[in-house]
Formats: sequence, C-alpha cells, structure tokens
Amino acid sequence: MAKIDFTGRVAIVTGAGTGLGRLHAMELAKRGAKLVINDLGGTRDGVGSGDAAANKVVDEIKAMGCQAVPNYDNVATVRGGGGIVKSAIDAFGKVDILVNNAGILRDKTFNKMEEENWDAVVGVHLRGAYCVTRPAFKKMKEQGYGRIVMTTSGAGLFGNFGQSNYAAAKMGLIGLTNVIKLEGAKYNIKVNVLAPVAASRLTEDVLSPQFFEKLKPDFVTPMVLYMCSEQCQDSGMIINAALGYFSRSAVVTGPGAKLSDGKKIPTPEEIMDSWAKITSLENPKYFNQMNEMFGELGTLLA
Ligand code: NAI
Repeated sequence: MAKIDFTGRVAIVTGAGTGLGRLHAMELAKRGAKLVINDLGGTRDGVGSGDAAANKVVDEIKAMGCQAVPNYDNVATVRGGGGIVKSAIDAFGKVDILVNNAGILRDKTFNKMEEENWDAVVGVHLRGAYCVTRPAFKKMKEQGYGRIVMTTSGAGLFGNFGQSNYAAAKMGLIGLTNVIKLEGAKYNIKVNVLAPVAASRLTEDVLSPQFFEKLKPDFVTPMVLYMCSEQCQDSGMIINAALGYFSRSAVVTGPGAKLSDGKKIPTPEEIMDSWAKITSLENPKYFNQMNEMFGELGTLLA
C-alpha cells in the first residue's frame, strides 16, 4: 500500500485551535506537512477572539518536532482570508492544502432566526470558505497543484430541526465545490467535502453522553488526510465520516416522467397523476455538471 506522505507540502487548517481542526492539523503535521494553524479563538457561538487556541496547537505540533505557525484571522472576512493565505506564503512560501473547517453554531427555529444569527453562521461557514479559498485557489492555480477540503454537515445534506442558518451555509459549500471542482480540474486542484460526526464542543449538547463518548474525532481525520493527499484523484465527492464508517452522499436525479411530446403543455392534473413517477428515485443518475443534465434534456428534443 502506497504511504500517504505530506513531506514538502504546506497546509492551512482553519479553526484548527480545537476539535476536528486541531486533529486534522496534528495528523497532517505528523506526516510531514508544514502547517498554518488558523483560529479566531472565540466561543462556540462565535463571540470573542484570542490567540491562545492557535498558539497551543502550534506548541503541540512543534513539540512533536514538526513545523507550524499560528494565525488568528477571522475566516469570515476577505481581509482575514487573505491574511491566512499570506501566513502560509510568508512562513513556507506556498500553499498546497486548505482544509476549510472553522465553524460556529447559533441554533434557533426558523421563525426565531434573526438576521444577526443568520449572518453570523452563514458568514463563518459559507462566506468564510469563499474568503479563504479564493486567495488559496489563486496560488494553487499558479503552481498547478492543490487539495481543498470543505466541511459540510448532515444538517444541510439531510435537514435538522433548528439549524436553518447552518444547514443553508453547509449546503452552499456543496454548490461552491461543484463549481471549483470544474474550474480547478485543469490545474490539478481537487476539492472534496467532508460530512463528519464527532464529539466536540459543537456537539456536546446535541449527542447523548453514551454516543458522544464513542464518536472520537480520530475516526474522521483519516478521511481528511486522504482527501488532502496527492493520491486522491477524485474531486467533488461528499463523504460522510464517523466511527470509522465512510459513505458517499450525492445529489442524484430520478428517471422522471415525460408528460409532453415537446408541443403539448402538460396540465397540473397530469402532473398530479404522475407525481409518483416524477418523484421516483429508482435507478438515479449522477450528473457531474449542469451540461450533462442539459445533454439529457437534448435527447428529449431528438
Ligand atoms: P469546534 O467548535 O470544536 O471547532 C471549530 C473551531 O473553529 C474553533 O476552534 C473556533 O474557534 C474556530 N472558529 C470559529 N469561527 C472562526 C472564524 N470566524 N475564524 C477562524 N476560526 C474560527 O467544532 P468542530 O465540531 O470541531 O467543527 C469543525 C467543523 O466541522 C465545523 O465546520 C463544523 O460545522 C463541522 N461539523 C462538525 C460536526 C461534528 O459532529 N462535530 C458535524 C458536522 C459538521
């Protein structure tokens, strides 16, 4: 089995001061990567800031005899994103790997979801991925190599009561990934999406204590390492990871129902009668990009 090794690679992990991000960073460093440990250092709901979290992880990595620098920027600003990538360039001259991991939560039912809580969560997860990935992507394109990991959530993929802000942001990352995978393909930039479940401060009051105990982040991080490796040649994959169980999620399309010959406009009643066929997911298709779906529509015209 070929060993996955990051010697000579430079990696940024956002929100690496604790939880999953810290572990991703430690394991990347153990296998030779030079790390930028970004963390704003605020609370679970994104209040406050400080340098202690990032500094602690940098110290841990250095104590293992590996290389790391801290960065305390906010991923949710263009300035912060630029600063994070600059930290990598200033310290190590390049950036090969970016793990977008920083996250906060502000759960409320949609009815009570005030603008401030919507903006804060979408800001860190979705805007944050934009702000950091854009300057990193530019460098990766110039060097003809890059590996990017986005961190989504089952809350977005499948839905979760009380998390409209978080779910919307996490699904936004899938759309972003779907485009970057196409635009980065020519430059050997691969972008894949992790959907983890793990014990952390974000999940301590969501999961039962018995479940929490078992869901060690250690079970998730190996997937991130594979996604960050040269060996990973896929792009645009969404992988669920927890407890050493890994599976793919995807947006797929059912076979559908053709209710027109291309001339006659179907009636709402015909749609009602065909609802089961229209919504069937039997033998679904996966389209790698929108044009493939258009191609499928084209066959209807033939
Ligand atoms: P965590 O709260 O332990 O770690 C998140 C880190 O991000 C913290 O150190 C925090 O200071 C940092 N951070 C927050 N806002 C930031 C900002 N604006 N700029 C820079 N750093 C910032 O949480 P956990 O569980 O390790 O989460 C990591 C990622 O995984 C998040 O994106 C989360 O949404 C996602 N996730 C986690 C799941 C889980 O089961 N733990 C489930 C699904 C997704």
